[in-house]
Amino acid sequence: MNLTTLQKMKQDSEKIAVLTCYDASFAVLMENAGVDILLVGDSLGMVLQGEKSTLPVTMRDMQYHTRCVAKTSQKAYIVTDMPFGSYQLSPEQALQNATRIMASGAHMVKLEGGTIMTETIRFLVDRGIPVCGHLGLTPQSVHQLGGYRVQGRDQIAADRLIKDAKALEKAGASLLVLEMVPAALAKTITDSISIPTIGIGAGPDCDGQVLVLHDMLGIYAGKSPKFSRNFMQGSESIQAAITAYVQAVKSGDFPTTEHSY
Ligand code: KIV
Repeated sequence: MNLTTLQKMKQDSEKIAVLTCYDASFAVLMENAGVDILLVGDSLGMVLQGEKSTLPVTMRDMQYHTRCVAKTSQKAYIVTDMPFGSYQLSPEQALQNATRIMASGAHMVKLEGGTIMTETIRFLVDRGIPVCGHLGLTPQSVHQLGGYRVQGRDQIAADRLIKDAKALEKAGASLLVLEMVPAALAKTITDSISIPTIGIGAGPDCDGQVLVLHDMLGIYAGKSPKFSRNFMQGSESIQAAITAYVQAVKSGDFPTTEHSY
């Protein structure tokens, strides 16, 4: 898997299957099931470390889990989250930390934020580091957003998200995660940019879908979000559940309106 393949999948309307992955064993199961992108998400703060948000996650955590995933991964594309506070200060700070993440085995870094992040994205891309943007519900800003709630519901907010998406593409981002935005808005954004969009709670029309592993296996102790589905139900093993997820994403069976806003 590489950037050219991902771009071609968008052009060919072939859905991209993404899951969060934090260790070597799951990387193997996911690749066996045909997951295209392994996202070493900072959601690990909540699902592995028991934190209340992603904010306490450190660079050391992200490097460690990226190394674990990269050890056994053979063909998937590995995208790693830049943790809170590791990239917001300056493009130079972002480069220094993105370099450490890439050296741990990632193929791309992901960072949250709209137009404000364009200078940093350009700075990283010009220096050979592919970037995935993240718009909508950006969990590192949970305290500013007032909780984990749907974004872009009114026209002004929707217009801002469309503008942000175009700005990130122009700055050189190669992928864009859209989290908890109305399905119609995610479709508008997906149709207005040429880079693939990966939705989570963003309806069926994104170019790909991502879920947090522990949500789709039904093993997270916290509340399961409306946009997730427990793929262990009806599956005989974890391998079968991950395969069912990939098939559901590829065929367009997941997500449905039941998982959308
Ligand atoms: O950290 C994460 O798992 C993520 C997904 C929710 C997209 O960023």
